[in-house]
Amino acid sequence: MVNSVRKFGACECTFRCTALMFFFCVSVFQPFSAQTQSKVRQAGTPISRELFGLFFEDINYSADGGIYAELIQNRSFEYSPTEQREWHPLSFWEYLSPGFSYGQISIETKDPVHTNNPHYLLLNIEHVGHEEQHSGPSGVGIRNAGFDGIVIKKGERYNFSVFAKQVSSSPVAVSVSLQTHKGEILAEEKISINSPEWKKYTGDLVAREATDSAKLVLLAETTGTIALDVISLFPEHTFKNRPNGLRADLAQVLADMKPRFIRFPGGCLVHGDGLGNMYRWKNAIGPIEQRVEQRNIWGYHQTAGLGYFEYFQFCEDIGAKPVPVLPAAVSCQNSGGTWRIGGTGQRALPLDEMDDYVQEVLDLIEWANGPPTSRWGSLRAAAGHPEPFNLEYIGIGNEDKITPEFKQRFKVIYDAVRAKHPEITIIGTVGPFPDGEDFTKGWEYADALKVPVIDEHYYKEPQWFINNQYRYDGYDRDKAHVYLGEYASWGNKMHNAIAEAIYMVGLERNGDVVRMASYAPLLAKKGRTQWKTDLIFFDNKAICLTPNYYVQQLFSLNQGDVVFKDVFSIAPADSTLAASCVRESSSGDLILKIVNGGKTQRDVKADLTSFGRISATAEQIVLSGDADAENTFENPTKISPVRSTVKVQKAFSYAAPAMSLTVIRIKFR
Ligand code: AHR
Repeated sequence: MVNSVRKFGACECTFRCTALMFFFCVSVFQPFSAQTQSKVRQAGTPISRELFGLFFEDINYSADGGIYAELIQNRSFEYSPTEQREWHPLSFWEYLSPGFSYGQISIETKDPVHTNNPHYLLLNIEHVGHEEQHSGPSGVGIRNAGFDGIVIKKGERYNFSVFAKQVSSSPVAVSVSLQTHKGEILAEEKISINSPEWKKYTGDLVAREATDSAKLVLLAETTGTIALDVISLFPEHTFKNRPNGLRADLAQVLADMKPRFIRFPGGCLVHGDGLGNMYRWKNAIGPIEQRVEQRNIWGYHQTAGLGYFEYFQFCEDIGAKPVPVLPAAVSCQNSGGTWRIGGTGQRALPLDEMDDYVQEVLDLIEWANGPPTSRWGSLRAAAGHPEPFNLEYIGIGNEDKITPEFKQRFKVIYDAVRAKHPEITIIGTVGPFPDGEDFTKGWEYADALKVPVIDEHYYKEPQWFINNQYRYDGYDRDKAHVYLGEYASWGNKMHNAIAEAIYMVGLERNGDVVRMASYAPLLAKKGRTQWKTDLIFFDNKAICLTPNYYVQQLFSLNQGDVVFKDVFSIAPADSTLAASCVRESSSGDLILKIVNGGKTQRDVKADLTSFGRISATAEQIVLSGDADAENTFENPTKISPVRSTVKVQKAFSYAAPAMSLTVIRIKFR
């Protein structure tokens, strides 16, 4: 029986072990001091050590224009009407010819920087005006206002780069500057485009003043013809100062959750809007000018600048396991907008392409884990990471319709990965809902193939989460583990967050069958959202953390690896009250979580009498507020956790405030 040998984290005990084996696991393998062991009763159920993590998808401008710190929009002139009807390769660029200058501008494809990056700009500077009546710069050029304006901080350094080539016989002098929307120059560098071959030119710009609406201006100041591409501007300070890195503040709020894993890059983004739109990982590695840009399924553009290397690096930087999801060689069933007619747009890769596709999946494992001497491992090493990334999980498919075409392709991929890489845990998929045809068929197929982990998704109203908090109590422990890869109640008010907290207590209680869980979607840019309910809202400057964020964070920071089910006695009928007690073996702490989703304060009794000598004081964190309260950019801390130190006893009654989540962390004496 496959399930009986499944491992959970470092404990590595047989997961569905007998009581005897469980005792052995806890007392021998848990990294507990001998002293603590003698004081803590040996009872409880081991649960997943990677229960709470993150799901990142490039939706709502999460990547380009979001956490990916690139400040220039359409840097490679690859925007296209297939993304938004009015878009084209010059979108978000303006032509300039100040000082009575004139010239020509065109988009070319004849001799690109790289075949993966076909469009580039040709700038022909015919005349640079030197009229006495004109003050200020003269020349011919372009400017870009980024994603709704470029936010510049005074005194900070910005790294500029451009691929360029001298097309005319003589070099062309170009001024590169950051300007206010009124044209005042905040920082400037001069470069000379003097190579007849494509060459990368770089420079640093340090702004004299701050502004939220800067523009990057490239102005040729001498006549001639030049080609330009991949015009890029990054703040020097990115998260962990990684080149081609992430916006430091946004990455930090994710790091602050200490997620155990990150699933990426989607979502529907993975299986794509038709076969040509599937996310192919090989397109998203290597130098940025060689990556394949494409239409984002959510109706905008995807540079793949935040690509597989960056995802893996970020996971490593914050101690999260990488969980890449690859297409199951079928496209989204809603391709072409067929969700309007019931979703029949699933397309499948031709079978004669499956050998190559399977190899592509296997190559990812080599890229992530193989030695630097291997073909794909060498590319990881060349990108600056000779050590393996220690990939353990791969998701195959996202919410796909469980058709014969899907099944056939999933099995081919699944068999090949299992045969070559038995050390990799494969995550299967069971449609977009908590029940129904694809859910049932998906589970049946997963059972037949003995898929070790299954990715369930559902978005529901808050009451559904309250009503279904015991969902996993009834799951068969001999079947696949669950990865609840996407879930959210429809809303970002306090009562939504608390409904999710009630549900998460159920996930913890069932942490022996629910291996992983991640809220979705994670990030959303103000005014650029395709999905209304999200965990973290942001604009170019500010971040608004939702009550749902704090719930996720409190569960994530306070994960345990053993759950004790008899500390609280709450009747299942009491559906707005939920509580759990877990132990975190690394610290030895006991962690209580108490959720009151009701409109009045409730007393909750905790019985810790069998736990030995607990400390008299404990750290307490309370998240509470009115049911309809929410955080806004104007008032982003309306709902936020409040910390205190409280007295605890072995048996005590806690007055849980109305609409609240309380976490109490107790040490042993
Ligand atoms: O999270 C938003 C979308 O919801 C995901 O892309 C998809 O998997 C689900 O339907």
